[in-house]
Amino acid sequence: MTRWETTADLVVVGSGVAGLTAALTAARAGLRVVVVTKDAPDAGSTRWAQGGIAVVLGDITGDSVAAHLADTLAAGGGLVDAGAAGTILAAGPAAVAALRGEGAVFDGPPDALARTREGGHSALRVVHAGGDATGAEVERALLAATRRAELVVLPGHAASAVLTGPDGAVEGLEVRDEDGRAGLLAAPAVLLATGGVGALYETTTNPTVATADGWALALRAGATLADVEFVQFHPTALHVPDAGKGRAPLVTEALRGEGAVLRDTGGRSVTAGVHPLGDLAPRDVVAAAITRRLGELGAEHVWLDATGVPDVAARFPTVAAACAAIGVDLARDPVPVRPAAHYACGGVVTDDHGRTGVPGLWAAGEVARTGLHGANRLASNSLLEGLVMGRRAAEDVARALAGPRRLASPTPPAAVPVPIADRAALQAAMTRGAAIGRDAAGLAAASDAVEAASTVRAPRTRADVEDAALTLAAHALLAAAGSRTETRGCHVRADHPRTDDHWQRASSTVVLSGDRLHVGTTDARHGGVA
Ligand code: SIN
Repeated sequence: MTRWETTADLVVVGSGVAGLTAALTAARAGLRVVVVTKDAPDAGSTRWAQGGIAVVLGDITGDSVAAHLADTLAAGGGLVDAGAAGTILAAGPAAVAALRGEGAVFDGPPDALARTREGGHSALRVVHAGGDATGAEVERALLAATRRAELVVLPGHAASAVLTGPDGAVEGLEVRDEDGRAGLLAAPAVLLATGGVGALYETTTNPTVATADGWALALRAGATLADVEFVQFHPTALHVPDAGKGRAPLVTEALRGEGAVLRDTGGRSVTAGVHPLGDLAPRDVVAAAITRRLGELGAEHVWLDATGVPDVAARFPTVAAACAAIGVDLARDPVPVRPAAHYACGGVVTDDHGRTGVPGLWAAGEVARTGLHGANRLASNSLLEGLVMGRRAAEDVARALAGPRRLASPTPPAAVPVPIADRAALQAAMTRGAAIGRDAAGLAAASDAVEAASTVRAPRTRADVEDAALTLAAHALLAAAGSRTETRGCHVRADHPRTDDHWQRASSTVVLSGDRLHVGTTDARHGGVA
Protein backbone atom coordinates (compact mmCIF):
# COMPACT_ATOMS: atom_id res chain seq x y z
CA MET A 1 0.00 0.00 0.00
CA THR A 2 1.32 3.48 -0.90
CA ARG A 3 1.81 5.58 2.26
CA TRP A 4 2.70 8.90 0.68
CA GLU A 5 2.89 10.65 -2.70
CA THR A 6 4.76 13.67 -3.97
CA THR A 7 5.70 15.23 -7.29
CA ALA A 8 8.91 16.40 -8.95
CA ASP A 9 10.20 17.32 -12.38
CA LEU A 10 13.14 14.97 -12.05
CA VAL A 11 13.80 12.12 -9.64
CA VAL A 12 17.47 11.19 -9.40
CA VAL A 13 18.10 7.70 -8.02
CA GLY A 14 21.50 7.60 -6.32
CA SER A 15 23.73 10.08 -4.57
CA GLY A 16 27.21 9.41 -5.91
CA VAL A 17 29.22 11.49 -8.35
CA ALA A 18 26.82 11.15 -11.29
CA GLY A 19 23.61 11.53 -9.27
CA LEU A 20 24.65 14.59 -7.30
CA THR A 21 26.21 16.26 -10.35
CA ALA A 22 22.97 15.69 -12.24
CA ALA A 23 20.79 16.89 -9.37
CA LEU A 24 22.78 20.10 -8.91
CA THR A 25 22.76 20.81 -12.65
CA ALA A 26 19.03 20.18 -12.97
CA ALA A 27 18.16 22.28 -9.91
CA ARG A 28 20.22 25.16 -11.27
CA ALA A 29 18.29 24.85 -14.54
CA GLY A 30 15.13 25.48 -12.52
CA LEU A 31 13.81 21.92 -12.20
CA ARG A 32 12.20 20.58 -9.03
CA VAL A 33 14.52 17.73 -8.17
CA VAL A 34 14.26 14.94 -5.60
CA VAL A 35 17.27 12.72 -4.95
CA VAL A 36 16.33 9.27 -3.71
CA THR A 37 19.07 7.20 -2.08
CA LYS A 38 18.62 3.94 -0.27
CA ASP A 39 21.12 4.44 2.53
CA ALA A 40 23.05 7.44 3.83
CA PRO A 41 23.86 9.84 0.95
CA ASP A 42 27.59 9.00 1.06
CA ALA A 43 27.17 5.22 1.32
CA GLY A 44 27.83 4.51 -2.36
CA SER A 45 30.98 3.68 -4.31
CA THR A 46 32.12 7.23 -5.04
CA ARG A 47 33.47 7.76 -1.54
CA TRP A 48 35.71 4.69 -1.87
CA ALA A 49 37.40 5.69 -5.13
CA GLN A 50 41.10 6.08 -4.51
CA GLY A 51 43.30 6.63 -7.57
CA GLY A 52 41.69 9.76 -8.96
CA ILE A 53 40.17 11.33 -12.05
CA ALA A 54 41.81 10.74 -15.43
CA VAL A 55 41.76 14.04 -17.29
CA VAL A 56 43.96 15.91 -19.75
CA LEU A 57 44.13 19.45 -18.40
CA GLY A 58 46.41 20.66 -21.18
CA ASP A 59 49.33 21.70 -19.01
CA ILE A 60 51.50 18.62 -19.46
CA THR A 61 53.67 18.59 -22.57
CA GLY A 62 53.23 15.49 -24.66
CA ASP A 63 49.79 14.53 -23.37
CA SER A 64 46.55 15.15 -25.24
CA VAL A 65 42.90 14.12 -25.31
CA ALA A 66 43.80 12.10 -28.42
CA ALA A 67 46.38 10.15 -26.38
CA HIS A 68 43.84 9.64 -23.57
CA LEU A 69 41.36 8.35 -26.16
CA ALA A 70 43.98 6.04 -27.67
CA ASP A 71 44.67 4.55 -24.22
CA THR A 72 40.91 4.18 -23.57
CA LEU A 73 40.47 2.40 -26.91
CA ALA A 74 43.44 0.11 -26.27
CA ALA A 75 42.20 -0.83 -22.80
CA GLY A 76 38.65 -1.40 -24.04
CA GLY A 77 39.43 -4.43 -26.20
CA GLY A 78 37.81 -3.21 -29.43
CA LEU A 79 34.40 -2.43 -27.92
CA VAL A 80 34.81 1.24 -27.00
CA ASP A 81 32.51 3.57 -28.92
CA ALA A 82 35.21 5.98 -30.08
CA GLY A 83 32.72 8.75 -30.87
CA ALA A 84 31.10 8.69 -27.45
CA ALA A 85 34.42 8.24 -25.67
CA GLY A 86 36.00 11.15 -27.54
CA THR A 87 33.28 13.58 -26.47
CA ILE A 88 33.32 12.40 -22.85
CA LEU A 89 37.10 12.66 -22.51
CA ALA A 90 37.16 16.06 -24.23
CA ALA A 91 34.59 17.34 -21.72
CA GLY A 92 36.84 16.29 -18.83
CA PRO A 93 38.66 19.57 -18.16
CA ALA A 94 35.41 21.57 -17.91
CA ALA A 95 33.90 18.90 -15.65
CA VAL A 96 36.87 18.95 -13.29
CA ALA A 97 36.86 22.76 -13.30
CA ALA A 98 33.16 22.71 -12.36
CA LEU A 99 33.86 20.27 -9.54
CA ARG A 100 36.63 22.51 -8.24
CA GLY A 101 34.09 25.32 -8.46
CA GLU A 102 31.92 23.32 -6.05
CA GLY A 103 34.84 23.32 -3.61
CA ALA A 104 36.70 20.08 -4.35
CA VAL A 105 40.39 20.43 -3.56
CA PHE A 106 42.97 18.35 -5.42
CA ASP A 107 46.56 17.63 -4.47
CA GLY A 108 49.27 20.02 -5.66
CA PRO A 109 49.32 23.75 -6.39
CA PRO A 110 45.96 24.98 -7.79
CA ASP A 111 47.51 25.99 -11.12
CA ALA A 112 49.70 22.89 -11.49
CA LEU A 113 47.84 19.97 -9.92
CA ALA A 114 49.79 16.83 -9.03
CA ARG A 115 49.28 13.99 -11.49
CA THR A 116 49.84 10.23 -11.17
CA ARG A 117 49.66 7.28 -13.50
CA GLU A 118 47.63 4.08 -13.44
CA GLY A 119 47.41 0.92 -15.52
CA GLY A 120 46.97 1.44 -19.27
CA HIS A 121 47.75 5.17 -19.21
CA SER A 122 50.61 6.36 -21.40
CA ALA A 123 51.04 9.58 -19.40
CA LEU A 124 50.71 10.96 -15.90
CA ARG A 125 47.17 12.33 -16.12
CA VAL A 126 45.30 11.22 -12.99
CA VAL A 127 44.50 14.07 -10.61
CA HIS A 128 43.96 13.04 -7.00
CA ALA A 129 42.92 14.37 -3.62
CA GLY A 130 44.03 13.53 -0.09
CA GLY A 131 46.69 11.28 -1.62
CA ASP A 132 44.46 8.28 -2.24
CA ALA A 133 41.14 9.66 -0.97
CA THR A 134 39.90 11.22 -4.21
CA GLY A 135 36.40 9.78 -4.07
CA ALA A 136 35.91 10.96 -0.50
CA GLU A 137 36.78 14.51 -1.53
CA VAL A 138 34.51 14.38 -4.59
CA GLU A 139 31.60 13.11 -2.48
CA ARG A 140 32.29 15.66 0.28
CA ALA A 141 32.31 18.58 -2.14
CA LEU A 142 29.18 17.48 -3.99
CA LEU A 143 27.23 16.80 -0.78
CA ALA A 144 28.23 20.20 0.57
CA ALA A 145 27.03 21.81 -2.66
CA THR A 146 23.81 19.83 -2.42
CA ARG A 147 23.21 21.19 1.09
CA ARG A 148 24.02 24.75 -0.02
CA ALA A 149 21.56 24.41 -2.91
CA GLU A 150 18.95 23.05 -0.45
CA LEU A 151 18.21 20.07 -2.67
CA VAL A 152 15.62 17.59 -1.46
CA VAL A 153 17.40 14.34 -0.62
CA LEU A 154 15.42 11.33 0.55
CA PRO A 155 17.79 8.88 2.26
CA GLY A 156 16.81 5.37 3.35
CA HIS A 157 14.53 4.77 0.35
CA ALA A 158 15.19 2.12 -2.27
CA ALA A 159 13.71 2.57 -5.75
CA SER A 160 11.44 -0.42 -6.34
CA ALA A 161 9.92 0.42 -9.74
CA VAL A 162 10.14 2.99 -12.50
CA LEU A 163 6.52 3.73 -13.33
CA THR A 164 5.57 3.96 -16.99
CA GLY A 165 2.28 4.86 -18.65
CA PRO A 166 0.36 2.99 -21.35
CA ASP A 167 2.63 4.55 -24.01
CA GLY A 168 5.75 3.29 -22.22
CA ALA A 169 6.88 6.75 -21.09
CA VAL A 170 8.06 7.40 -17.54
CA GLU A 171 5.48 8.72 -15.09
CA GLY A 172 7.37 8.39 -11.82
CA LEU A 173 9.09 6.15 -9.33
CA GLU A 174 7.97 3.88 -6.52
CA VAL A 175 10.25 3.70 -3.49
CA ARG A 176 10.32 1.62 -0.31
CA ASP A 177 11.78 2.43 3.06
CA GLU A 178 13.65 -0.05 5.27
CA ASP A 179 10.42 -1.59 6.47
CA GLY A 180 8.91 -1.89 3.02
CA ARG A 181 6.52 1.06 3.29
CA ALA A 182 5.92 2.41 -0.21
CA GLY A 183 6.05 6.00 -1.45
CA LEU A 184 5.29 7.31 -4.90
CA LEU A 185 7.01 10.16 -6.74
CA ALA A 186 5.11 11.36 -9.82
CA ALA A 187 7.60 12.80 -12.30
CA PRO A 188 8.08 12.93 -16.08
CA ALA A 189 11.80 12.21 -15.77
CA VAL A 190 13.80 9.66 -13.78
CA LEU A 191 17.57 9.50 -13.86
CA LEU A 192 19.23 6.28 -12.72
CA ALA A 193 22.59 6.88 -11.03
CA THR A 194 22.54 3.78 -8.87
CA GLY A 195 26.16 2.68 -9.30
CA GLY A 196 27.43 -0.84 -9.68
CA VAL A 197 26.92 -4.54 -9.17
CA GLY A 198 29.74 -5.68 -6.88
CA ALA A 199 27.32 -7.50 -4.55
CA LEU A 200 26.87 -10.12 -7.26
CA TYR A 201 30.13 -11.58 -5.94
CA GLU A 202 31.36 -12.75 -2.55
CA THR A 203 34.29 -10.35 -2.48
CA THR A 204 34.19 -6.88 -3.96
CA THR A 205 35.82 -3.51 -3.53
CA ASN A 206 32.31 -2.00 -3.63
CA PRO A 207 30.27 -1.03 -0.58
CA THR A 208 27.32 -3.27 0.26
CA VAL A 209 24.81 -0.98 -1.48
CA ALA A 210 26.12 -1.96 -4.95
CA THR A 211 23.30 -4.40 -5.65
CA ALA A 212 22.60 -3.85 -9.37
CA ASP A 213 19.37 -1.96 -8.64
CA GLY A 214 19.66 0.22 -11.75
CA TRP A 215 20.06 -2.72 -14.11
CA ALA A 216 16.88 -4.28 -12.75
CA LEU A 217 14.87 -1.04 -12.70
CA ALA A 218 15.88 -0.32 -16.30
CA LEU A 219 15.18 -3.83 -17.59
CA ARG A 220 11.73 -3.84 -15.98
CA ALA A 221 10.96 -0.42 -17.49
CA GLY A 222 11.80 -1.72 -20.96
CA ALA A 223 15.36 -0.40 -21.40
CA THR A 224 18.25 -2.32 -22.96
CA LEU A 225 21.44 -3.38 -21.19
CA ALA A 226 24.70 -3.91 -23.09
CA ASP A 227 28.16 -5.30 -22.35
CA VAL A 228 27.07 -6.63 -18.95
CA GLU A 229 29.38 -9.65 -19.16
CA PHE A 230 32.31 -7.26 -18.68
CA VAL A 231 32.64 -7.02 -14.90
CA GLN A 232 36.05 -5.62 -14.11
CA PHE A 233 38.02 -7.29 -11.34
CA HIS A 234 40.47 -4.93 -9.67
CA PRO A 235 43.85 -6.68 -9.59
CA THR A 236 44.79 -5.53 -6.10
CA ALA A 237 42.18 -5.76 -3.38
CA LEU A 238 43.72 -6.26 0.04
CA HIS A 239 43.74 -9.92 1.00
CA VAL A 240 42.62 -10.07 4.59
CA PRO A 241 43.21 -13.60 5.93
CA ASP A 242 40.08 -15.16 7.48
CA ALA A 243 38.07 -12.02 6.71
CA GLY A 244 35.24 -13.96 5.14
CA LYS A 245 33.21 -12.29 2.46
CA GLY A 246 32.12 -8.75 1.68
CA ARG A 247 34.00 -5.55 0.97
CA ALA A 248 37.73 -5.96 0.43
CA PRO A 249 39.72 -2.75 0.87
CA LEU A 250 41.10 -1.40 -2.41
CA VAL A 251 44.85 -1.06 -2.86
CA THR A 252 44.98 1.61 -5.52
CA GLU A 253 46.65 1.05 -8.86
CA ALA A 254 48.31 4.42 -8.41
CA LEU A 255 50.77 2.63 -6.10
CA ARG A 256 52.06 0.79 -9.16
CA GLY A 257 52.01 4.11 -11.01
CA GLU A 258 54.44 5.38 -8.38
CA GLY A 259 56.70 2.32 -8.60
CA ALA A 260 55.21 -0.52 -6.52
CA VAL A 261 55.72 -3.98 -8.05
CA LEU A 262 53.77 -7.24 -8.08
CA ARG A 263 55.47 -10.49 -7.14
CA ASP A 264 54.14 -13.95 -6.53
CA THR A 265 54.72 -15.82 -3.30
CA GLY A 266 57.88 -17.29 -4.87
CA GLY A 267 59.27 -13.80 -5.48
CA ARG A 268 58.79 -13.79 -9.29
CA SER A 269 57.23 -10.95 -11.28
CA VAL A 270 53.60 -11.65 -12.11
CA THR A 271 53.43 -9.65 -15.34
CA ALA A 272 56.89 -10.08 -16.90
CA GLY A 273 56.40 -11.28 -20.48
CA VAL A 274 52.64 -10.79 -20.29
CA HIS A 275 52.33 -7.22 -21.60
CA PRO A 276 54.80 -4.52 -22.67
CA LEU A 277 53.55 -2.25 -19.86
CA GLY A 278 54.29 -4.93 -17.24
CA ASP A 279 52.64 -4.15 -13.90
CA LEU A 280 51.09 -1.05 -15.49
CA ALA A 281 49.26 -3.02 -18.16
CA PRO A 282 45.50 -2.43 -18.39
CA ARG A 283 43.58 -3.79 -15.45
CA ASP A 284 42.03 -6.81 -17.18
CA VAL A 285 45.49 -8.04 -18.20
CA VAL A 286 46.97 -7.70 -14.71
CA ALA A 287 43.95 -9.23 -12.96
CA ALA A 288 43.97 -12.22 -15.33
CA ALA A 289 47.73 -12.67 -14.89
CA ILE A 290 47.37 -12.69 -11.11
CA THR A 291 44.45 -15.13 -11.29
CA ARG A 292 46.48 -17.49 -13.48
CA ARG A 293 49.46 -17.31 -11.14
CA LEU A 294 47.30 -17.95 -8.07
CA GLY A 295 45.93 -21.04 -9.82
CA GLU A 296 49.40 -22.29 -10.79
CA LEU A 297 50.77 -21.87 -7.28
CA GLY A 298 47.62 -22.73 -5.35
CA ALA A 299 48.23 -19.45 -3.52
CA GLU A 300 45.65 -17.18 -1.89
CA HIS A 301 47.38 -13.92 -2.80
CA VAL A 302 50.33 -12.30 -4.50
CA TRP A 303 52.46 -9.54 -3.01
CA LEU A 304 52.46 -5.86 -3.89
CA ASP A 305 55.78 -4.39 -2.83
CA ALA A 306 55.47 -0.63 -2.31
CA THR A 307 58.48 -0.30 -0.04
CA GLY A 308 60.41 1.58 -2.75
CA VAL A 309 57.73 4.29 -3.17
CA PRO A 310 58.94 7.55 -1.58
CA ASP A 311 56.90 8.66 1.47
CA VAL A 312 54.44 5.91 0.65
CA ALA A 313 52.36 6.07 3.85
CA ALA A 314 51.91 9.84 3.57
CA ARG A 315 51.10 9.69 -0.15
CA PHE A 316 48.65 6.77 0.29
CA PRO A 317 47.11 7.22 3.75
CA THR A 318 43.93 5.23 3.03
CA VAL A 319 45.86 2.17 1.87
CA ALA A 320 48.36 2.56 4.72
CA ALA A 321 45.52 2.55 7.25
CA ALA A 322 43.87 -0.54 5.72
CA CYS A 323 47.22 -2.33 5.77
CA ALA A 324 47.91 -1.26 9.36
CA ALA A 325 44.56 -2.74 10.38
CA ILE A 326 45.89 -6.19 9.40
CA GLY A 327 49.36 -5.61 10.84
CA VAL A 328 51.08 -4.71 7.54
CA ASP A 329 53.36 -1.66 7.39
CA LEU A 330 53.02 -0.32 3.84
CA ALA A 331 56.44 1.33 4.04
CA ARG A 332 58.25 -1.82 5.17
CA ASP A 333 56.21 -4.89 4.27
CA PRO A 334 54.87 -6.35 1.05
CA VAL A 335 51.07 -6.19 0.92
CA PRO A 336 48.99 -9.35 0.27
CA VAL A 337 46.60 -8.66 -2.63
CA ARG A 338 44.28 -10.55 -4.95
CA PRO A 339 41.65 -9.58 -7.56
CA ALA A 340 38.10 -8.69 -6.46
CA ALA A 341 34.97 -7.61 -8.34
CA HIS A 342 35.21 -3.87 -8.87
CA TYR A 343 33.33 -2.22 -11.74
CA ALA A 344 30.56 -2.88 -14.25
CA CYS A 345 31.90 -1.82 -17.67
CA GLY A 346 28.49 -2.35 -19.26
CA GLY A 347 25.03 -1.40 -18.10
CA VAL A 348 21.96 0.53 -19.21
CA VAL A 349 22.43 1.64 -22.81
CA THR A 350 22.40 5.41 -23.22
CA ASP A 351 23.23 7.90 -25.91
CA ASP A 352 25.70 10.76 -25.47
CA HIS A 353 23.13 12.65 -23.38
CA GLY A 354 22.33 9.84 -20.97
CA ARG A 355 19.01 9.00 -22.65
CA THR A 356 17.93 5.37 -22.55
CA GLY A 357 15.50 3.92 -25.08
CA VAL A 358 12.60 4.53 -22.64
CA PRO A 359 11.08 8.01 -22.97
CA GLY A 360 11.66 9.89 -19.72
CA LEU A 361 14.39 7.55 -18.42
CA TRP A 362 18.02 8.67 -18.27
CA ALA A 363 21.04 6.90 -16.76
CA ALA A 364 24.51 8.14 -15.82
CA GLY A 365 27.61 6.85 -14.06
CA GLU A 366 28.50 3.22 -13.45
CA VAL A 367 24.95 2.00 -14.05
CA ALA A 368 25.06 3.28 -17.63
CA ARG A 369 26.72 1.96 -20.74
CA THR A 370 27.80 4.94 -22.82
CA GLY A 371 30.43 3.05 -24.81
CA LEU A 372 33.35 4.69 -22.97
CA HIS A 373 34.59 1.48 -21.36
CA GLY A 374 34.02 -1.25 -23.93
CA ALA A 375 35.30 -4.58 -22.65
CA ASN A 376 37.52 -3.10 -19.94
CA ARG A 377 37.47 0.35 -18.34
CA LEU A 378 40.64 2.39 -18.30
CA ALA A 379 41.61 3.29 -14.73
CA SER A 380 40.09 6.49 -13.31
CA ASN A 381 37.85 7.11 -16.32
CA SER A 382 34.84 6.40 -14.10
CA LEU A 383 34.72 9.49 -11.89
CA LEU A 384 35.29 11.53 -15.04
CA GLU A 385 32.39 9.82 -16.78
CA GLY A 386 30.14 10.40 -13.76
CA LEU A 387 30.90 14.12 -13.75
CA VAL A 388 30.48 14.57 -17.50
CA MET A 389 27.43 12.37 -17.99
CA GLY A 390 25.67 13.49 -14.81
CA ARG A 391 25.79 17.05 -16.09
CA ARG A 392 24.88 16.17 -19.67
CA ALA A 393 21.93 14.02 -18.66
CA ALA A 394 20.53 16.77 -16.43
CA GLU A 395 20.93 19.34 -19.20
CA ASP A 396 19.11 17.00 -21.55
CA VAL A 397 16.29 16.50 -19.05
CA ALA A 398 15.95 20.27 -18.72
CA ARG A 399 15.77 20.61 -22.51
CA ALA A 400 13.23 17.79 -22.77
CA LEU A 401 10.99 19.26 -20.05
CA ALA A 402 11.10 22.75 -21.57
CA GLY A 403 8.66 21.57 -24.27
CA PRO A 404 5.00 20.71 -23.82
CA ARG A 405 4.48 18.32 -20.92
CA ARG A 406 1.95 15.66 -20.26
CA LEU A 407 0.37 15.65 -16.83
CA ALA A 408 1.23 12.23 -15.50
CA SER A 409 -0.60 10.65 -12.63
CA PRO A 410 0.96 7.25 -12.15
CA THR A 411 -0.94 4.46 -10.52
CA PRO A 412 0.87 2.54 -7.80
CA PRO A 413 2.19 -0.67 -9.34
CA ALA A 414 0.63 -4.00 -8.50
CA ALA A 415 2.81 -6.17 -6.27
CA VAL A 416 4.19 -8.47 -8.97
CA PRO A 417 5.90 -11.68 -7.78
CA VAL A 418 9.46 -12.03 -9.13
CA PRO A 419 12.31 -14.48 -8.46
CA ILE A 420 14.30 -13.47 -5.36
CA ALA A 421 17.43 -15.50 -4.63
CA ASP A 422 19.12 -16.03 -1.31
CA ARG A 423 21.99 -13.53 -1.49
CA ALA A 424 24.76 -15.73 -0.08
CA ALA A 425 23.86 -18.58 -2.42
CA LEU A 426 23.75 -16.21 -5.40
CA GLN A 427 27.13 -14.71 -4.53
CA ALA A 428 28.68 -18.15 -4.12
CA ALA A 429 27.31 -19.25 -7.49
CA MET A 430 28.52 -16.11 -9.29
CA THR A 431 31.96 -16.30 -7.66
CA ARG A 432 32.34 -19.95 -8.67
CA GLY A 433 30.97 -19.64 -12.18
CA ALA A 434 31.13 -16.06 -13.43
CA ALA A 435 34.43 -14.58 -12.25
CA ILE A 436 37.74 -14.54 -14.18
CA GLY A 437 38.12 -17.79 -16.13
CA ARG A 438 34.46 -18.69 -16.72
CA ASP A 439 33.30 -21.45 -19.03
CA ALA A 440 30.02 -22.70 -20.48
CA ALA A 441 29.52 -25.38 -17.86
CA GLY A 442 30.30 -23.02 -14.97
CA LEU A 443 28.00 -20.32 -16.31
CA ALA A 444 25.16 -22.80 -16.75
CA ALA A 445 25.76 -24.19 -13.27
CA ALA A 446 25.69 -20.67 -11.82
CA SER A 447 22.39 -19.98 -13.56
CA ASP A 448 20.92 -23.23 -12.21
CA ALA A 449 22.20 -22.46 -8.71
CA VAL A 450 20.72 -18.94 -8.72
CA GLU A 451 17.41 -20.36 -9.89
CA ALA A 452 17.47 -23.08 -7.25
CA ALA A 453 18.17 -20.47 -4.57
CA SER A 454 15.20 -18.31 -5.66
CA THR A 455 11.64 -18.08 -4.47
CA VAL A 456 9.00 -16.20 -6.42
CA ARG A 457 7.33 -13.48 -4.38
CA ALA A 458 6.56 -9.78 -4.40
CA PRO A 459 9.48 -7.72 -3.02
CA ARG A 460 8.46 -5.86 0.13
CA THR A 461 11.50 -4.73 2.11
CA ARG A 462 14.64 -2.98 0.92
CA ALA A 463 16.49 -6.32 1.18
CA ASP A 464 13.85 -7.93 -1.06
CA VAL A 465 14.19 -5.13 -3.61
CA GLU A 466 17.97 -5.57 -3.63
CA ASP A 467 17.85 -9.36 -3.82
CA ALA A 468 15.33 -9.26 -6.66
CA ALA A 469 17.65 -6.86 -8.51
CA LEU A 470 20.66 -9.09 -7.90
CA THR A 471 18.73 -12.12 -9.14
CA LEU A 472 17.67 -10.48 -12.40
CA ALA A 473 21.12 -8.94 -12.89
CA ALA A 474 22.85 -12.28 -12.29
CA HIS A 475 20.72 -13.93 -14.96
CA ALA A 476 21.38 -11.05 -17.39
CA LEU A 477 25.13 -11.25 -16.82
CA LEU A 478 25.18 -15.05 -17.09
CA ALA A 479 23.16 -14.98 -20.30
CA ALA A 480 25.43 -12.35 -21.91
CA ALA A 481 28.57 -14.14 -20.72
CA GLY A 482 27.29 -17.45 -22.06
CA SER A 483 26.63 -15.98 -25.46
CA ARG A 484 30.11 -14.44 -25.91
CA THR A 485 32.17 -17.45 -26.93
CA GLU A 486 35.55 -15.73 -26.83
CA THR A 487 37.90 -14.01 -24.38
CA ARG A 488 37.95 -10.22 -24.54
CA GLY A 489 38.77 -7.61 -21.91
CA CYS A 490 37.33 -8.55 -18.52
CA HIS A 491 35.42 -11.47 -20.03
CA VAL A 492 37.91 -14.32 -19.71
CA ARG A 493 36.57 -17.66 -20.92
CA ALA A 494 38.61 -20.73 -20.00
CA ASP A 495 36.87 -22.70 -22.76
CA HIS A 496 37.35 -19.95 -25.39
CA PRO A 497 40.74 -18.49 -24.46
CA ARG A 498 41.22 -16.51 -27.68
CA THR A 499 39.77 -13.25 -28.91
CA ASP A 500 37.57 -13.94 -31.92
CA ASP A 501 37.32 -11.41 -34.78
CA HIS A 502 33.69 -12.38 -35.21
CA TRP A 503 33.02 -10.44 -31.98
CA GLN A 504 35.32 -7.53 -32.83
CA ARG A 505 32.61 -4.84 -32.93
CA ALA A 506 29.76 -6.78 -31.34
CA SER A 507 28.27 -5.63 -28.06
CA SER A 508 25.91 -8.04 -26.34
CA THR A 509 22.49 -6.68 -25.45
CA VAL A 510 19.93 -7.91 -22.93
CA VAL A 511 16.24 -6.99 -22.78
CA LEU A 512 13.41 -8.29 -20.60
CA SER A 513 10.17 -9.33 -22.25
CA GLY A 514 7.53 -10.62 -19.87
CA ASP A 515 9.63 -12.66 -17.46
CA ARG A 516 12.18 -13.76 -20.05
CA LEU A 517 15.56 -12.25 -20.81
CA HIS A 518 16.63 -12.04 -24.44
CA VAL A 519 20.27 -11.71 -25.46
CA GLY A 520 21.26 -10.18 -28.78
CA THR A 521 24.12 -8.27 -30.30
CA THR A 522 24.52 -4.79 -31.69
CA ASP A 523 27.31 -2.76 -33.24
CA ALA A 524 29.35 -1.45 -30.30
CA ARG A 525 29.62 1.93 -32.01
CA HIS A 526 25.90 2.50 -31.77
CA GLY A 527 25.13 0.80 -28.48
CA GLY A 528 21.61 -0.22 -29.39
CA VAL A 529 19.61 2.81 -28.16
CA ALA A 530 16.13 2.19 -29.47
C1 SIN B 1 42.28 2.52 -8.18
O1 SIN B 1 42.56 3.52 -7.53
O2 SIN B 1 43.09 1.63 -8.43
C2 SIN B 1 40.90 2.37 -8.71
C3 SIN B 1 40.59 3.47 -9.62
C4 SIN B 1 39.54 3.06 -10.60
O3 SIN B 1 38.81 2.11 -10.36
O4 SIN B 1 39.48 3.69 -11.65
